[in-house]
Amino acid sequence: MLPNKETYRDFVLGLVLQMRPHHILEIGLGSCHTTAAELLHYAEEDFEKLFVIEKDPNPVALEEISSAMDDGRCELRKGDSRDPAMYEGLSDGQNTCDLVLVDGLHTAQGVYSDIQMIVNHNILTPDGVIVFHDGGASNVRLGINQAAKDFGLQVLHLPALNLSIGKYA
Ligand SMILES: C[S@@+](CC[C@H](N)C(=O)[O-])C[C@H]1O[C@@H](n2cnc3c(N)ncnc32)[C@H](O)[C@@H]1O
Repeated sequence: MLPNKETYRDFVLGLVLQMRPHHILEIGLGSCHTTAAELLHYAEEDFEKLFVIEKDPNPVALEEISSAMDDGRCELRKGDSRDPAMYEGLSDGQNTCDLVLVDGLHTAQGVYSDIQMIVNHNILTPDGVIVFHDGGASNVRLGINQAAKDFGLQVLHLPALNLSIGKYA
């Protein structure tokens, strides 16, 4: 049996505590008890902002991140992650992300496109890390591997955790 969503969330939280990222981009907010909400809860003082791209924000999930949106620690970009407009202003030199979480459209094309957008818009810092949820699923893995080849990413698949990690090679 593949690990559940909590495994992914715990992994991301552990990474956040180790890396202490300043800016995070999450593609795919989800429905409730979201990774985004937990992450905002645990974020350290030097954390600045979480950007979320979500095409269809769930009301419960929105409620979970509402106070962070009010105080500017979270910015929701409502729309499709395949739309380049979603990434505008994200790489202006101040908002470049040290951590990117890809958990949106779980097709090979969808994952490929998310990676393409991240690379083309210079979203990731040179030492930044991308975490892919469901990296154990064949479609997702196909998209990751093709994009890694095309965009010069180094990828580590962790099938036991059902996730994959990428960084610039
Ligand atoms: C598995 S859930 C994300 C769970 C969340 N990351 C968490 O850990 O709690 C996937 C989310 O991606 C969103 N999504 C799917 N395709 C998308 C797309 N092309 N653009 C933006 N969001 C998308 C869905 O609406 C859904 O909310």
